[in-house]
Amino acid sequence: MKSYLTRRGFMQTAGAGAAVLGLSNSRPSARAFASGDGKPALLGGTPAHKGGWLKWPQWREDWEPEVLKVFRSGRWYRGSGKQVGEFESAYAKLLGARRCLATASGTTALMVSLHVMEVDAGDEVIVSPYTFIATYNAILNAKALPVFADTDPATLTIDPSTIESRVTSRTRAVMPVHIYGMPCDMDPINAVAARHKLPVIEDACQAWLAEYKGRKCGTLGDLGCFSFQESKHIPSGEGGAITGMRDELVDKCASFHDCGRPYGTVRGSGQFTRGNNYRMTQVQAVLLAQQFDKLVKETEIRRANADHLSAGLGKIPGITPVRLPENSRAVWHLFPWRYDAQQFHGLPREKFIRALQAEGVPCSGGYHEQYYDGLIDEAIASRGFKRLFNAERLKAYRGSFQELKGNRQVCETTVAITQNLLLAERGDLDQIIEAVAKIHTHSAALAGS
Ligand SMILES: Cc1ncc(COP(=O)(O)O)c(C=O)c1O
Repeated sequence: MKSYLTRRGFMQTAGAGAAVLGLSNSRPSARAFASGDGKPALLGGTPAHKGGWLKWPQWREDWEPEVLKVFRSGRWYRGSGKQVGEFESAYAKLLGARRCLATASGTTALMVSLHVMEVDAGDEVIVSPYTFIATYNAILNAKALPVFADTDPATLTIDPSTIESRVTSRTRAVMPVHIYGMPCDMDPINAVAARHKLPVIEDACQAWLAEYKGRKCGTLGDLGCFSFQESKHIPSGEGGAITGMRDELVDKCASFHDCGRPYGTVRGSGQFTRGNNYRMTQVQAVLLAQQFDKLVKETEIRRANADHLSAGLGKIPGITPVRLPENSRAVWHLFPWRYDAQQFHGLPREKFIRALQAEGVPCSGGYHEQYYDGLIDEAIASRGFKRLFNAERLKAYRGSFQELKGNRQVCETTVAITQNLLLAERGDLDQIIEAVAKIHTHSAALAGS
């Protein structure tokens, strides 16, 4: 049986990558070929990768003095200290945004942005279906309908050409999602939104420092939303942010997220206006502010290692790395590829995933068709939604999920590994490529087992 990656090919690719990166951990090791053409682990062979992967999140002792200082000060709430404000200025600077507002989470960042963009009960928001469920829920929380545009199977992000046909008289906003840290193709998205005078809210909850045509995600639409939840590249347990280029919009966000207190250009009569408490605490802010250098450095490592994986995996028939929009740079919260079972003797994706896991490579199928999970059905069957939308619209809306052919294809054929694997040594990354090549070589036996 033939392996698609010769030992020399491995060494050359790994060596070139190491030179570009200048990383001390980039040695192409003999360990990468430990199991060579051997039997897949699922059939009793030796796993391609032994030992674990980097644990996430990470804690650094040198963050502790600043964190303790806040705890000891007793000034924990944003109104009684300056750390949240300092974090906001620094994060805005890091992204090249005019302003930033810290929030309690990514979900609350989305909720505040939707409110400020005047998404109201009975409205519709055009959104990517290929996302974490919080994106759907933030829209439903506003008693608005998440209307799904299709996913482009090549990019895994919203297909801009499928937005316009979804615009109705009730559409109030467009919400592209830079999923897995891969920038959406924002120029055509902004163009269609502008044609219909719709604001664009970027769900950049997985896209810290991702870039599109020289600008960072979160600065490409009207408002951008970020998450700092524990699994994220820059985590604080919970936490979020809204970025924007227009003062009056971010002032509105600031007021609404702080119980409707007057803020900046939002003065009203000096009284509270409508709003809720979606504030970040000082402790979250000091934790986040100390991670900027780490984020920047690790982003470069993930990028270089993702390029290395794309080059290696892309040589294996049936594995297609994701295409990014021209002149854009992803940050890879997950590193996905598309899997073609036909090129693996019909080995079902679920079994491919099991086989790869058995090789010591944690992986998953990414998001599934969540609009069939009952969450949307429950929402549109509720008293409120039935009052807000007529039966005909809700029926057509529910029926329209069938049109999401690109998204279905993506949900059925994607395989992904998480970001912490991209911080591993080159030798370990080569073992991922080796594991997939091994599964391919033995796919007939695996499919029949
Ligand atoms: C794409 C996306 N949107 C929204 C959210 C919500 O963020 P949070 O968990 O901070 O509320 C997340 C978090 O995982 C996300 O990945």
